[in-house]
Amino acid sequence: WEDLFLPTPLKLENRLRAQKIEARLSKLMLCGSTLRRVGEVFEKEIEAGLRQQPSSLQMENTYVPELPDGTEEGSFLALDLGGTNFRVLFLELKAGQLLREKVKHYHINDALRLGPGEDLFNFLADCVQDFLVSQSIEKETFSLGFTFSFPMRQHSISSGELITWTKSFNCGGMDGVDVAALLQRCLSARSLDVTVRVLLNDTTGTLVAGAHIDRNVGIGVILGTGSNGCYMERASRVLHWERPHSAVHDVCIDIEWGAFGDNGCLDFLRTEFDDEVDAKSLLAASFTFEKYIGGKYLGDLLTFTLSALARDGLFPADPNFRKLQTSHVSLFEEESCAGEVSRTLSALREACNSDLLSTADALVAQYVAHVISNRAAQLVSVCISTLLKRMDRPYVAVAVDGSVFKHHPRIAKLMNKYIALLAPAHQFSLMIAEDGSGKGSALTAAIAARMATRGVA
Ligand code: GLC
Repeated sequence: WEDLFLPTPLKLENRLRAQKIEARLSKLMLCGSTLRRVGEVFEKEIEAGLRQQPSSLQMENTYVPELPDGTEEGSFLALDLGGTNFRVLFLELKAGQLLREKVKHYHINDALRLGPGEDLFNFLADCVQDFLVSQSIEKETFSLGFTFSFPMRQHSISSGELITWTKSFNCGGMDGVDVAALLQRCLSARSLDVTVRVLLNDTTGTLVAGAHIDRNVGIGVILGTGSNGCYMERASRVLHWERPHSAVHDVCIDIEWGAFGDNGCLDFLRTEFDDEVDAKSLLAASFTFEKYIGGKYLGDLLTFTLSALARDGLFPADPNFRKLQTSHVSLFEEESCAGEVSRTLSALREACNSDLLSTADALVAQYVAHVISNRAAQLVSVCISTLLKRMDRPYVAVAVDGSVFKHHPRIAKLMNKYIALLAPAHQFSLMIAEDGSGKGSALTAAIAARMATRGVA
């Protein structure tokens, strides 16, 4: 059983070099019993978080108590903020189906991502105005779903405060500010007749968009720049409620697993390579689990691990070679699956500014990419398998979105393997649920409207 968790071995003619490299990377290779231990810690942190006891998991109540039932109707605006690309969308739903969609992308520059929060939100409102004018619908009335892909403390389905910035954002002046109310103020200041009806995380949007395709969806996962998951929890197990909820059976919980272990409970996993990724990140000592998995960090992990091998004389390059990207992790894995090295070699020669690197060196880089990909797949699989056990349904479909899941050539396969190994008694499937942040947001706004007519929210 333990052997099933090992990455594919490094095959070099120079066996001694291969053995030394494998030994150097051994802390990045997690055996089945370590992963079980991670799962047990995760379960404990989930319980503590739900009970509002100290935990590294936020376990945030999203106040989304039901999933699409095919009656969703109307025209909605959706905003998607989480990466350097901000999107404004117009979506028209009829009988739960998407009839029409218009999208415009806007770039969020460094000054906006790292400056005062007010500036960022004024920019978002400017983009909404620009979008409405470009569609000649600036005089119309809209409900808006705001996908804000950061940890929040929610007070209702349409209000909440940022807990901490993550990924590449770090705006000032946002402490205790209700992000939906701030957005509303900026929109109203532009005389736009737009009401922020729902505030949601991208995982919630993904769960909702997935449930629209398959009623068995009970978990939403993002495996992109960052990583996070949400799931439908029994309302009776949730302590944090600021709204009447006697009619609510289940509710979507945003776990914020990127912060898993920030209280030290996962220190047994951490390697020197992770320390370096963390120390050189925008928000050090925060969201450390995300730094093992997220696309924002896998390229750094590849770079720092290879440069450690270079320092030890196991990889013939100046240890300060130019940074590799997460796209290189995917490329190296893709070539390794196909038994090729040519593109790996030219990328390495470019980054290291050296023509001396050989096929064996390319195999080493592919091996490093594989080891870190294998660990990322294992860790996200631990989270999903723990949720499957906790939900204990006969079958659960897991809706997944995000660039790493979509572009990494073998992450989905690895996850299928590891989830099945870690939760053998549970039936599941991983399904792509694209654009939870857009379509999921509009569907959630429609669900909120439906609940309001029934007096549930
Ligand atoms: C970060 C955010 C989280 C989001 C995830 C994926 O972890 O904190 O809210 O869901 O990235 O975008």
